[in-house]
Amino acid sequence: MRRQLSADRSSVTVRVPAKLNLFLAVRGHLPGGYHELVTVMQTISLFDELHAQVVGLPGRGHHPAGRRRMRVQLWHEAADGLPAPEDNLATLAAVVLGRAAGVLPGDDPIPDARELLPTGAGGPASVDGAAAADAPTTVLRLHKGIPVAAGMGGGSADAAAALVALNEVWGCELDRDDLQALGRAVGSDVPFCVVGGTALATGRGVAVARVLCRGTFHWVVCEADEPLSTADVYRSWDRVGRPSEVEPDATLQALRSVDAQALGAALHNELEPAAFALRPELEGNRKALVEAGALGAVLSGSGPTLLGLAADQAEAQRIAGEVRDLFARVAVGHSPAGGPDLLDETP
Ligand code: C5P
Repeated sequence: MRRQLSADRSSVTVRVPAKLNLFLAVRGHLPGGYHELVTVMQTISLFDELHAQVVGLPGRGHHPAGRRRMRVQLWHEAADGLPAPEDNLATLAAVVLGRAAGVLPGDDPIPDARELLPTGAGGPASVDGAAAADAPTTVLRLHKGIPVAAGMGGGSADAAAALVALNEVWGCELDRDDLQALGRAVGSDVPFCVVGGTALATGRGVAVARVLCRGTFHWVVCEADEPLSTADVYRSWDRVGRPSEVEPDATLQALRSVDAQALGAALHNELEPAAFALRPELEGNRKALVEAGALGAVLSGSGPTLLGLAADQAEAQRIAGEVRDLFARVAVGHSPAGGPDLLDETP
């Protein structure tokens, strides 16, 4: 897995989509405090962009020891609820890939990736190799378009974007399977976000199999003002939820046949009672989406974002107008929305 740093491409931008869960069943508990899931995930057209640039890159033929002196800095604009650079999943992804590729010090395997996060307040996060004044620096700049702590996988998307971007600028030459494997150490949704599209995920959510989806679906994306913590929602599930054996057959069939009506009826998320126990207004707001004409409405992941499925884009716009006053922000989008996209910018 270790590769020489390449000076071929020192700067890239990756655009990465949000995700939604069309189906999410909780089977029970897994060792380590996680929950066993069966979930059907799809990317949706709300995007973050991550720009990665290596500054002071040692040239070709540079002594290999130079590869271990990299610094990583993450910058992002202030956004409510966005984890500080030193706690951000994009930083963690950089550390995990950097260690695996020999760009940052440390060896595989990584026992608990979160222990690798640097601590300390203020940005940017700086993850140092052997500190040296002339160390090359990788600067990550994150631009958020995906709602933060909203159940739309924004943090995982940023981690996936970091893996894809740094794989390029560090010349690691890893394929998407390798990046997915590294993504597992970063967060449960990261392996899906590395490939995007439509997938069935099981276990902790990290075993991902692609699913056939012909065509496009249109959504009303309804954001709440107050974020919800995923861990809090799972803890709430421990109080109010019961393991289920519901299967995603109807969802998968609706995706195959591009039947929006059937998909609307099949939308299913067993984290809803857990999130509604913490935020009772969400239940009424989901009903309001259906009353406004959505073919179905569902909590996005662990919430608090609610999604309404519409027959087409014009209908999505109409429903958005009707429910706008109930939510902090309302947008429309379509799914699936591909995966991380490398936007070419250097010759
Ligand atoms: O894996 P990730 O860091 O994204 O998960 C955030 C939190 O959500 C975990 O710390 C855990 O509390 C909860 N979780 C869970 N079961 C899963 C996925 C996440 O309990 N399958």
